[in-house]
Amino acid sequence: MIVFTLNGIGQRLDVDPTLRALDVLREHCGLTGPKEGCGTGECGACAIWMDGVTRLSCLTLAGQLHGRAVTTIEGLADSWDENEATDTTDQPPLHPVQTALAERGGVQCGYCTPGMTMVAAELLRREPNPDRAAIREAVSGNLCRCTGYHKIVDSIEDAAETMRKKR
Ligand code: FES
Ligand code: FES
Repeated sequence: MIVFTLNGIGQRLDVDPTLRALDVLREHCGLTGPKEGCGTGECGACAIWMDGVTRLSCLTLAGQLHGRAVTTIEGLADSWDENEATDTTDQPPLHPVQTALAERGGVQCGYCTPGMTMVAAELLRREPNPDRAAIREAVSGNLCRCTGYHKIVDSIEDAAETMRKKR
């Protein structure tokens, strides 16, 4: 039995611990935010947080989830405490990185976006005021075939500014 929390909700899964975490999340937990791009640790599309640290779920075994706090893109907005204080609409809250990517054209086909967002959000939690070089370095393991990266970096800069103002 694999016991862990997933986006704040307790899970007890009777699954083969040698399955990939990516497959368990998508097929057993119904969370399709983490994407499979390469399946070999090269593209970052499958990124999740384990205890707040980015991990590639295609290279993580289900058994490694045991006892951990797992966050996927579906639960990322809840990790941003300001959402509770500021959300006055019926819309599901977004993390500032999600909002910025949408507003600045940092999303095209969207396939890389969940992984890119998880990595960027972890960066901004650790480093509230990263320069462009630090942003590029942080997302250097996330491949995007659409955007050319400039708008992604612009978006992360915007999100950083938004988060600094609200902190
Ligand atoms: S699918 Fe995991 S790094 Fe590409
Ligand atoms: S938006 Fe299409 S791969 Fe990044």
